[in-house]
Amino acid sequence: MRFTLHTYGCQMNVRDSEAVSALLAAAGHTPVSHEIEADLIIVNSCSVRGKAEDKALGKLGLLCASKRERPDRIVGVMGCMAQRLGPDIFNRVPGLDFSVGTRRCGAIPYLVSRVLAGETGLLETSSPDEVPDVPDAHAESGFSAFVTILLGCNRRCAYCIVPDVRGTEYSRPAREILAEVAALARNGIREVTLLGQSVMNYGRTNPVWDGSDALSPGGYAEPFARLLEAVAALPGIARIRFTSGHPSGCTDSLVRAMRSLPQICHHLHLPVQSGSDRILSLMRRGYSRADYLDAVRRLRTAMPDFALTTDVIVGFPGESEADFEATRTLMDEADFDNAFIFKYSPRPGTPAAAMADDVSEAEKMRRNQVLLEDQDLRGIAANRRLVGSLQEVLVEGPSLRNTSRWSGRSPGNKIVIFDPPAGLQPGSVAAVRITRAAPQTLYGDVVP
Ligand code: 5AD
Ligand code: SF4
Repeated sequence: MRFTLHTYGCQMNVRDSEAVSALLAAAGHTPVSHEIEADLIIVNSCSVRGKAEDKALGKLGLLCASKRERPDRIVGVMGCMAQRLGPDIFNRVPGLDFSVGTRRCGAIPYLVSRVLAGETGLLETSSPDEVPDVPDAHAESGFSAFVTILLGCNRRCAYCIVPDVRGTEYSRPAREILAEVAALARNGIREVTLLGQSVMNYGRTNPVWDGSDALSPGGYAEPFARLLEAVAALPGIARIRFTSGHPSGCTDSLVRAMRSLPQICHHLHLPVQSGSDRILSLMRRGYSRADYLDAVRRLRTAMPDFALTTDVIVGFPGESEADFEATRTLMDEADFDNAFIFKYSPRPGTPAAAMADDVSEAEKMRRNQVLLEDQDLRGIAANRRLVGSLQEVLVEGPSLRNTSRWSGRSPGNKIVIFDPPAGLQPGSVAAVRITRAAPQTLYGDVVP
């Protein structure tokens, strides 16, 4: 069948969609880029905020309605909302053919074959602590790939649905990850992003290394730092990223690995959520404002070119004007390169859902706007500071807007635009001297 996927939510979902695409292609189905051409459509859903679920439900409703004109169409859902709603999804979306939870996406080709054989309403969800069967299939084009290393989350932050929908933490065996990355490198991938909800927890909840406890060549004892070292040792991998981080994972050993392994980009996405100690504790984040700023200071001291991005929630239950101001000042002190600001959305069954959602929608909107405006100024200033610097850019090829110029990304994950000198190959790493900064983009000249 000709198929397409609609993906909502985080990089974890992007990665799962990629794997499902590759599995479906391997099963003889054909990927198409436009929904109109597709006979099989899968929505990969997110549950992190109410709005994300509404979008996926709306999309599924329309798709199932389209079956009236196209009775041969198959519509399925996967991802976090599929896991959260369980069998109820079939009441919410009449006509849905299958629903697959977060740890079972590898079953999709089989479910499709059953629907083709006449079944419908198939449900495949997972229990939260089962050992997942993680597909290692990839279907990327380009030079960058996501690799899931840690599934689930044990942190139980008060606002977050993720532990319910993605289950308890499970770290994949290092051997499996290294084989997957080596295969990607053989297929031309130059950059990998290692994924986990709390990625630095890798190997803390289940053993991941075979055999001896002997130290790594660089003397790393922590499983995550060891993994970074082992990935960096694979031929062909020019750059390594990982996300998302937590201050408790920013150990001396991790900071040392980031500084001394040249493949690791000096960038972290380190969600802070709030700058108020009172709110951080209600959120059960497990760190204080001072702890967070201390982690940032250690990272910046070790890496002068370090880039930092974050997530912030405004309007958590009980967030006062003073709490909000504390977030504003923390954001100035941490000096983020970029920040994603979210309005708090109560999620069913989470501890915070039992607290009164007492910040009005209008006030959430205002706080959101204030932080975005602050961040715009901070982001422009951060980009301006890079003018004159030399950036190692992973060359992607012609830029979307103006194809005579090329684009790529800096280690800090900023888009860099430049004129390609003769012979420059996509997928190579070029040194670019930055000459001009715009709010979202850097411009520069390739230095031979
Ligand atoms: N409401 C609003 N934002 C949330 N996030 C997680 N849960 C919620 C929620 N209930 C945000 C956090 C997280 C990002 C992925 O989504 O900032 O880091
Ligand atoms: Fe959305 Fe969280 Fe699931 Fe990612 S893990 S898709 S952000 S609910």
